[in-house]
Amino acid sequence: MTHCASLAYVQALVLEVGCGVGNSTYPLLESNPALRFTSFDFAATAVEILKQHPQYDSNKIDAFCWDPAVDEIPERLQPGMGEREREIEY
Ligand SMILES: C[S@@+](CC[C@H](N)C(=O)[O-])C[C@H]1O[C@@H](n2cnc3c(N)ncnc32)[C@H](O)[C@@H]1O
Repeated sequence: MTHCASLAYVQALVLEVGCGVGNSTYPLLESNPALRFTSFDFAATAVEILKQHPQYDSNKIDAFCWDPAVDEIPERLQPGMGEREREIEY
């Protein structure tokens, strides 16, 4: 976390595997508001709690329920994801 915080204001898209309720997401976003997150967890309740956080912003965090060990790769992670991100950015 300290290392990531040293990257303050570097623009990056973070693929957050096993985001839980956002206990890493929100501190990282606070340390660097330029970050964007694609965050998933197989625990639907955790994702819902993450999305209910007062700092949740769907323009910055794409959070969804997914278990890569079982489920197909969702469309939002297929090639072209960067295009979608650029659409959000501009
Ligand atoms: C140690 S917690 C970390 C949560 C969060 N990243 C944090 O920093 O607080 C690990 C998370 O990974 C999730 N997880 C474990 N296996 C998973 C899988 N196969 N697919 C998606 N999420 C998974 C769990 O539900 C849990 O929320």
